[in-house]
Amino acid sequence: HRIWVCRDATRIYVILAVCTHLGCTPNWVGSENKFKCPCHGSGFDAEGVNFEGPAPRPMDRCYVSLAPDGQILVDKLILFREDQWEDESAGAFISA
Ligand code: FES
Repeated sequence: HRIWVCRDATRIYVILAVCTHLGCTPNWVGSENKFKCPCHGSGFDAEGVNFEGPAPRPMDRCYVSLAPDGQILVDKLILFREDQWEDESAGAFISA
């Protein structure tokens, strides 16, 4: 589905796997603890923040919510840029 569902100590968030350079799909490289874009070499840390290569900004995150039965629901049509990642009420993350 071209997303990663990520969990840290306090929250669950969903990274849209679209490189912010020209739209290729970065892969997770566990041995280097980063996402790596195969097209032009952009690298993103585990939170999706760009740190190497031509990507101009972090990858976007998707709307995420918890259904009454406990399933994690993701909507890829509602996206959050980095300055919106802290907005839990809008659906940028759910508390873990
Ligand atoms: Fe990812 Fe160019 S599309 S580095």
